[in-house]
Amino acid sequence: MLSQKDWPEYKKIAQNVEQGGNRDLLINWYDQKYQLFEGGSPAARKCCELLSQNLITSDHLQILDVGCGTGDQARLLQSLGVQEASFYGIDMSKAMLESAKSRKLYKELINSILPDIPYPDCHFDIVISAGTLCSPGNAPVETLSEMIRVTKPIGLLCFSYRLNWFENEESGWKKTHKQLVQKGLIKELVRQIDAYIPSQNIIGLYFVCQKK
Ligand SMILES: C[S@@+](CC[C@H](N)C(=O)[O-])C[C@H]1O[C@@H](n2cnc3c(N)ncnc32)[C@H](O)[C@@H]1O
Repeated sequence: MLSQKDWPEYKKIAQNVEQGGNRDLLINWYDQKYQLFEGGSPAARKCCELLSQNLITSDHLQILDVGCGTGDQARLLQSLGVQEASFYGIDMSKAMLESAKSRKLYKELINSILPDIPYPDCHFDIVISAGTLCSPGNAPVETLSEMIRVTKPIGLLCFSYRLNWFENEESGWKKTHKQLVQKGLIKELVRQIDAYIPSQNIIGLYFVCQKK
């Protein structure tokens, strides 16, 4: 887990990327520090819990994990009873993907930089993204539309935002999220506030949405 000690360096690099700096510095940071995320972040645990509580079918599910990191979402979801599923993951950090691969829980793991999601339209029953959206320097705001594009109609999307970055107009996340809901592309089923990075008192905003 991201600790008090690792926070200043991470924050500096992530803010620099957010202001148009070199993304490779953040990729390198994740490559070096991937072990901090093994075991799953509070965001991963909360998203998996909410998703498992809101599943509407027990059919075999195709699940895409956006910013899969060390692959704890598949492990957590399986431990919460989501057994009938094939997991697919996307991440920009090769070290994160190697760690996810070692769990042998994902059918496919792709090294890609968001917002690009290299899958066809309406491909997944579920798209999950923990700790990756609406966080400075990480996935850009266009990622949400891409996630909706690859989700099947009536499929579920479950994701976390950083509450303070969502509320900051500069980020553009609140505006984009609201527009996509107002256009009827997704419907909010669950919206909850909970812990996100406890060591920094950063709070998360968690959603389960349904694609129309
Ligand atoms: C804070 S970690 C969260 C990892 C995991 N989902 C969890 O909650 O434990 C964010 C992850 O998103 C990935 N990521 C961030 N921005 C990305 C981007 N633009 N494209 C692809 N992956 C990205 C990082 O490499 C990292 O693995």
